[in-house]
Amino acid sequence: MPYPVEGLPHQVTIYEVGPRDGLQNESAVIPVEVKAEFIDRLADAGHKVIEATSLVHPKWVPQLADADRLLAGLHRRPGVRYPVLVPNPRGLDRALDLGVDEIAIFASATETFAAKNLNRSLESQFEMFEPVVARALDNGIRVRAYVSMCFGDPWEGPTPIAQVVTVGERLLGLGCYELSLGDTIGVGTPGHVTALIGAFRTPERLAVHFHDTYGQALSNTLAALRSGITTIDASTGGIGGCPYAESATGNLATEDLVWMLRGLGIETGLDLGKLVSTSTWLAELLGRPSPSRVVQALSKG
Ligand code: HMG
Ligand code: MG
Repeated sequence: MPYPVEGLPHQVTIYEVGPRDGLQNESAVIPVEVKAEFIDRLADAGHKVIEATSLVHPKWVPQLADADRLLAGLHRRPGVRYPVLVPNPRGLDRALDLGVDEIAIFASATETFAAKNLNRSLESQFEMFEPVVARALDNGIRVRAYVSMCFGDPWEGPTPIAQVVTVGERLLGLGCYELSLGDTIGVGTPGHVTALIGAFRTPERLAVHFHDTYGQALSNTLAALRSGITTIDASTGGIGGCPYAESATGNLATEDLVWMLRGLGIETGLDLGKLVSTSTWLAELLGRPSPSRVVQALSKG
């Protein structure tokens, strides 16, 4: 029985990042067939947007080195979007060859993480992204942007809100349709979320991307919903992290999010039972239980 709360949206889009953010951080090598089945099961559960993989340097993220094979063999369903991460012109060349129709660029809000994750300075990351976005748009490709370390950075401490807004608005200005605010290391708290979203001129173009390192991802999501956000990134089973930020643990679990939204009477179009069975199937293959509390609770029964 749902208990709706006034002022929250009636419907949200869950932007599923499990196959990309989830699997990029696994130490085991996962066969490409398993990745393809994971994506298929997510579509079966009702996902309409599934971030499939990354076209980055294979030496930088060996876990996703099979991206070209995965995308070439992907069983694309009508009505489902399969965006991929693309950092630079070489990544875009690969995306165009593979017929990808939606990409996501990923920037840093801090100098140190720009160096560690992209081998660029805060300023020179834009020199890398600008031609990518321009050429992608010319080719009819939709472009999303991420900005990482929006709340804090393991090397620099808390990230000033004005710095995040400057980077984020520059990315939107390139022509990206949406900006996802990444709490890469999960240090944000709800008041901080409200303040950050409120500092943007176009909150309707924002999405949120919470990692659950400090157990704040759901409370932060509720704060974001109250600020008008209707696109939430999540990872089925709560797997995830960033290989270039050790303190990053799993993303907000899609199941935990769906449980909360269902209780609030907010529509997601997702089948919770199918998500949980996907996560238990994947957990068995990965050799460890899902960190999602909802998966743990529902898979017992
Ligand atoms: P670089 O070493 O500066 O690259 O890396 P470069 O431009 O100097 O090129 C060096 C060589 O790499 C060249 O080959 C290029 O062709 C090749 P060579 O001529 O020497 O033989 N190369 C590539 N090959 C294949 N695909 C490519 C590619 N690019 C160059 N795309 C680069 C720069 C950006 C490529 C590198 O730093 C990189 O791949 N970084 C990716 C790191 C990453 O994927 N991190 C995880 C995702 S971000 C994240 O998880 C956060 C997020 O979830 C949000 C949040 O939580 O906050 C999104
Ligand atoms: Mg992430």
